Amino acid sequence: MLLEKIKLNLMEKLTGHNKIKTVVFISGTGSNLKNLIKFSKIKKTPISIDLVISSAPLAKGLKYADQFKIKKKIFNFKNFKETEKNILILLNKEKIRFICLAGFMKILSKEFIKKFDKKIINIHPSLLPKYKGLNTHERAIKNKDKFAGCSVHYVTAKLDSGKVIMQKKIKITTKDTSISLAKKVLKQEYKLYPAAIIKIFN
Ligand code: GRF
Repeated sequence: MLLEKIKLNLMEKLTGHNKIKTVVFISGTGSNLKNLIKFSKIKKTPISIDLVISSAPLAKGLKYADQFKIKKKIFNFKNFKETEKNILILLNKEKIRFICLAGFMKILSKEFIKKFDKKIINIHPSLLPKYKGLNTHERAIKNKDKFAGCSVHYVTAKLDSGKVIMQKKIKITTKDTSISLAKKVLKQEYKLYPAAIIKIFN
């Protein structure tokens, strides 16, 4: 009996079956994807990453799906409604329960989001509600802000507007350019995204 339990525990750990089945949506470099995959392998993680979806066939981040032997699928979103329908079918088939957006450049519809209410989160490179959308670091520097940062938030139908789960603030120095700032913020993103996921499921 005890042996069975130990075996089961071990199997669960190896297969990740006791974890929340998660998909990561990407469109580009995928460094947050890589970081989340690593996070999904540690003991205290609540998630297993079972699927990667990309809106771009050439997204660099797709290589991490290959590297870590995670199922991947590319959707071109030409017919948005049809694509979302097909994604939902796939998520259902794969028993996905949680969605992490990480550099995903499409805006999901209200109908899609409703199906995964409070189960879709995103990481954004600014201290929301400041600087929704693109070019966040350029705007922070142009406005001579003293601080920048990143936020993990729930995804709603309004761009970058859902409830913030966690934020990390960093100082902008006079030497910072949008490139150096992006690098610094990204480093913090790698800590913040896993921490926010732990916060949600604990
Ligand atoms: C990150 O800065 C993230 O906050 C934003 O897009 C960027 C994605 O970077 N949403 P990567 O593809 O994870 O390297």
